[in-house]
Amino acid sequence: MQTPLLEAREIVKSYRGEAAQAPALRGASLSVAEGEFVCIVGRSGSGKSTLLNVLSTLLKADSGELVYQGRDLTRATETELNRLRGSDFGMVFQMHHLLPYLTTLENVLLPFMKGLSPIPEKRRERAREVLSLVGLASKQDRLPGQLSGGEQQRVAIARALAAGPSVLFADEPTGSLDKTTGRGIMELLKRINATGVTVVMVSHDPEYAAQASRRITIDDGLVVPDAA
Ligand SMILES: Nc1ncnc2c1ncn2[C@@H]1O[C@H](COP(=O)(O)OP(=O)(O)OP(=O)(O)O)[C@@H](O)[C@H]1O
Ligand SMILES: [Mg+2]
Repeated sequence: MQTPLLEAREIVKSYRGEAAQAPALRGASLSVAEGEFVCIVGRSGSGKSTLLNVLSTLLKADSGELVYQGRDLTRATETELNRLRGSDFGMVFQMHHLLPYLTTLENVLLPFMKGLSPIPEKRRERAREVLSLVGLASKQDRLPGQLSGGEQQRVAIARALAAGPSVLFADEPTGSLDKTTGRGIMELLKRINATGVTVVMVSHDPEYAAQASRRITIDDGLVVPDAA
């Protein structure tokens, strides 16, 4: 196997106030190669979201190592992690967190809105490109309330792609959608993966999981080894 793009080794993660309970992750290890489309599967409460959030550096592990492009991120400062998240990682959440008073295009540009400084035209250009990629070019001026659930999820995906990330993390991106719309989102993720973006998603739905190039099963805070 080629050198992994992203590798987690023996990740332990407890939530504050959860001391009496078992940690959400109890030594989870996995690796993801560049260009892969992996799906993390497992029952509710097994630690899928926690694992995804540790992998994307939104949550800090209590112990263990997280290595990205050969670099140990557990040693990186918050400033370095912020920079890395902005440049290399895109994230799609189950609740897509669109701002209701911003248009489609503005929601995609949200990561670049800092203070009052205008957004450079090349950012806007890129935002329009990703909106075309997700099939929403004609709806860039609508508010989220004027879009369907699947369209809103596609805006969230476009936003995650706006900075041109190497890795896209998605937690149950099809979670709140009907089957037809969910399938459309999976097709979109596969197309994004085909452009060279590594995709790490979470799903509890076997039909969607089957479409990833590999499945990683998590049970009770541990990654279940592949059956040989
Ligand atoms: N913020 C939190 N504070 C305390 N405990 C938490 C928190 N978030 C998750 N947990 C606990 O950690 C464990 C793993 O939760 P996690 O959200 O990772 O599960 P999951 O596999 O994503 O589940 P689901 O399929 O329901 O989304 C669960 O026991 C959960 O109750
Ligand atoms: Mg979850």
